[in-house]
Amino acid sequence: MGKPKVFITREIPEHLLKPYHQEMEISLWNEALVPVPRERLLQEVEKNDGILTMLSDAVDRPLVTHAKQLKIVANLAVGYDNIDIAACTEKGIHVTNTPDVLTDTTADLAMALVLTTARRVVEAAEFIKKGEWKEWGPFLLAGTDVHHKTIGIVGMGRIGTAVAKRAKGFEMNILYHNRSRNVQAETELGAKYVSFETLLQEADFVIDLLPLTEETRQIFNEKAFRMMKNEAIFVNVGRGKSVDEKALYQAVKTGEIAGCGLDVFAEEPIGKDHPLLALPQVVCLPHIGSATTETRSAMVKLALENLHAVLVRGQKPLTPVNELGH
Ligand code: GLV
Ligand code: GLV
Repeated sequence: MGKPKVFITREIPEHLLKPYHQEMEISLWNEALVPVPRERLLQEVEKNDGILTMLSDAVDRPLVTHAKQLKIVANLAVGYDNIDIAACTEKGIHVTNTPDVLTDTTADLAMALVLTTARRVVEAAEFIKKGEWKEWGPFLLAGTDVHHKTIGIVGMGRIGTAVAKRAKGFEMNILYHNRSRNVQAETELGAKYVSFETLLQEADFVIDLLPLTEETRQIFNEKAFRMMKNEAIFVNVGRGKSVDEKALYQAVKTGEIAGCGLDVFAEEPIGKDHPLLALPQVVCLPHIGSATTETRSAMVKLALENLHAVLVRGQKPLTPVNELGH
């Protein structure tokens, strides 16, 4: 028997792949910033034992139907809404994600967006670059405080808990909403469980860390933004489709809320003409929540370890998303 075949849908630094070449036959779509074309992915799904995918790859039912010997889809993300889990499970294909290794890094970025939007950091930096700084002024670019304010975290999993830890350092009052109670966050961080509506009404900073599911799709809609304080800042580091972007645009534009910081969008990538970019109270980032060299490398390593566990060692994956029957 030959080595198991693995296809990676994006360019990955060779030094991260090197330890695996001996036991797995690895090929890749050698582009850093261009997603693998659908046609090519369909072909690769037919002839590989494992694929390492990005969140920009749609592993949907039609694609999964093409699988012949595919045993595992290792997604390079904690989220897996790009994958049809049921279709994979039915075909006996493992799906894995990359939890834990990106928790702190993503929480750091959530706090970065809180600080950036509250203190108008991007606007202020642009102000100098545009040559507009002529004089110091007592209320020039005055923002709003973060410390001692109320943060409301929607989606209190690992990343939400890590955000709460950081918020505690800023002596913030911590509210959260989640499908299940997070006892650890309540006892160790003083986080208070409230309904979604109460959170929206009371938080100065509303942090969206929701995964995309049928229940969370456009949960941040016109009604939700209307419930928020006019001073509230909305931060999304979860999934863009949990937000009705038109409603968000209107909410910021009309002063229903004070601003927002977004790392994710309903359709990615967004171009420079996206309406939200025209509003000064909005800070947009290109989905870089887990983007540090350390963390992206750790994510690649974890994805490769999942492939290795299933395809070489014949074991269960380290971080499974689905449960396969026997
Ligand atoms: C990024 O959005 C991830 O799900 O890891
Ligand atoms: C993801 O790791 C989460 O549970 O928030």
